Amino acid sequence: MRIRCIPEQVPRPIPDEDCPACGRRRIPYIPRCVCGHVYDSRDDAPSLVHPGLRAPKPPGAFRIAHWSDIHQGSRWPLGLDMATRLRNLLSALVQLDVDGLVISGDLTQFGKPGELLDVRQHLEAFGFGASRRLIVPGNHDVARGTRNRDFEDVFGVSYPMVLEFGPGLTVIAFDSNVLEERTLFERGWVNVRGRVGPEAVEAARERVRSLPAGSRLLVLHHHLGRLPPERKWATFDEHTFKVDQYLMAPLVDAAEVLAFARETGITAVLHGHKHWYSRTGYRMGSIPVFNAGSVTQMRHPQFRLFDFVDGEWQALYRVEVSL
Ligand SMILES: [Fe+2]
Ligand SMILES: [Fe+2]
Repeated sequence: MRIRCIPEQVPRPIPDEDCPACGRRRIPYIPRCVCGHVYDSRDDAPSLVHPGLRAPKPPGAFRIAHWSDIHQGSRWPLGLDMATRLRNLLSALVQLDVDGLVISGDLTQFGKPGELLDVRQHLEAFGFGASRRLIVPGNHDVARGTRNRDFEDVFGVSYPMVLEFGPGLTVIAFDSNVLEERTLFERGWVNVRGRVGPEAVEAARERVRSLPAGSRLLVLHHHLGRLPPERKWATFDEHTFKVDQYLMAPLVDAAEVLAFARETGITAVLHGHKHWYSRTGYRMGSIPVFNAGSVTQMRHPQFRLFDFVDGEWQALYRVEVSL
């Protein structure tokens, strides 16, 4: 197995300010005002990390790996069996000295208790017990309904989840499979669009108020906007190779969740669902967003590493694994 870590630039917050030259409102991520003034943007700062095959971990850093869409129980793609893939990928995490693993849904293919237990046992065999993992259910994990109590029982979780995952690092996690009738009938048995629901947003809002300052990650399975067209087949279903209108479409209540993210100062949003890994992070308004893609359903697994030191986001890597 070969592991390659490619440094990516950590997205910096864009200040909410007016143009000092003409007073016009600044448009986020546009480096130059229409009057010609060029902003001093921290977003353009060069990456501080060194390129290489391994990711050097800063002293005192809390390192997160972001995975998604394991689909335990699926037989796609052919080649290495799922258990071997999973073991190899987990041993990569151990080699990379990962402190916490975030998995943004679709851990299983059908959400069956056997599949769920299988994933849990694999995670625990490599040291990713309850305190070192942060998981949310995907539409496949709740394939039999709007809420899978087996998922919650096997992993001992309930949503929304607001917890301190590392020093100065909070994670807010939503179950984005809350069905309403309209989406239930849009497409068969799996909730492809996804919905968080106002109750969960309100409950999370209450709990976030008491949080200390630091970095805040928002984790959910479905995406909050149309995925960026970084490759022409980004919105194709990887099994049928047809354009998938449902995978293109965002979460039903994306606007409400984004408003929550803005209001609560979310540092970055982590999601999955679309199995093609998004090479570059993208943004929803001013918030950086990362799609993990699937670690097991693609021939060449990729995932991201995030390093935080005392709640400050220090480094970001794309990891390529050749199994
Ligand atoms: Fe998936
Ligand atoms: Fe999904």
